Amino acid sequence: MIVPGYRDHPSEPWDPAAPVDPGEAEDFLRQCYLENPRLGPVEPRLAIVRAQIAATGSYVHTTDELTYGAKMAWRNSSRCIGRLYWRSLVVLDRRRARTADEIFSLLVNHLQAAGGGQQAGRIRPVISIFAAAQPGQPYAKVWNEQLIRYAGYRTEDGGVVGDPRTVDFTERMQGHGWQGKGEAFDILPLAVEVPGEPVRLYELPERAILEVPLTHPEFGWFAELGLRWHAVPAISTMRLTVGGVNYPLAPFNGWYMGSEIGARNLADADRYDMLPAVAARMGLDTSHESTLWRDRALVELNRAVLWSFEKAGVRISDHHTESQRFISHLRNEEKAGRPVPADWTWIVPPISGGLTPVFHRYYQEMDLRPNFYPGEETCPYAKG
Ligand code: ARG
Repeated sequence: MIVPGYRDHPSEPWDPAAPVDPGEAEDFLRQCYLENPRLGPVEPRLAIVRAQIAATGSYVHTTDELTYGAKMAWRNSSRCIGRLYWRSLVVLDRRRARTADEIFSLLVNHLQAAGGGQQAGRIRPVISIFAAAQPGQPYAKVWNEQLIRYAGYRTEDGGVVGDPRTVDFTERMQGHGWQGKGEAFDILPLAVEVPGEPVRLYELPERAILEVPLTHPEFGWFAELGLRWHAVPAISTMRLTVGGVNYPLAPFNGWYMGSEIGARNLADADRYDMLPAVAARMGLDTSHESTLWRDRALVELNRAVLWSFEKAGVRISDHHTESQRFISHLRNEEKAGRPVPADWTWIVPPISGGLTPVFHRYYQEMDLRPNFYPGEETCPYAKG
């Protein structure tokens, strides 16, 4: 099968010094114009782009190309279960921003546009695309892995207060003069670095942050655990690549699937590790694994997440619903004659996998472009 967008590029590390590959530019433009007849014929555009690449080593996307390219990158993201709504992505073209202050204020706008602000709770998928990398030139970076994340502080007895995942990053921020409250859910500052300047730290204003305190539909004591989570997951370290052009700073968000919070962030032993505490309050027998106390606590923790977000009017979905949507997406794409690259190990939810339809099948694994790639190169503190 000939798959548009597929080239043999086994995730080789990005070479920021290399000029744009004209073949990749052409593949993208042909597919983009084919899928969007209103953009007119592609041939004249290809001639311009070839000339631009020959002269400068790169080319400039039109707003239409950039917008559709970002949607295609989402559509090709094999780890994402939420791709049914790929067409609805809101694309904010921020290519003209240069200073750290400008970038920070546009990141605040992003969080508000995503539903963390005035439209509080009506979370919508948004991407902000900052300047393309020019071959061999330095580019702006945000060091944080997500726009909103909680700090993690190492304690003297070798434990952690907060999110153990961010302990190194938190220390790095403290090294730059940041002081957190030292509590379990302190929002980290944004670290913005533009070429030729030292990194700058910014505290997010309240109007950019929406959080949900967690309670449980039946267990009154649950509130006493003092748990909460933020409403908008906004990944800020992945590099967007469209038609051979790289956008190292292109933060994007969706809404949460409850299990990301309830079965991973708050449950993983190397994250908030809350299952023992929940089980203890539930009075479960934790002396043997075979009592399934972990599983029972896990279900109640996940109920609390979904219930609290719903009660607060903050968009979230459960893993059953999101799995059904993914199956609809597979069907839509099949009708359109497009493959859906998918990674089983990421698509299957971390709780009750076998109860969802996405468990019971195989997927094609394929590296299609446009796409997003983990930003080890762009963010020194990125973790898979
Ligand atoms: N799993 C990550 C987290 O809990 C977020 C990944 C993106 N999730 C999403 N629903 N768009 O922070």
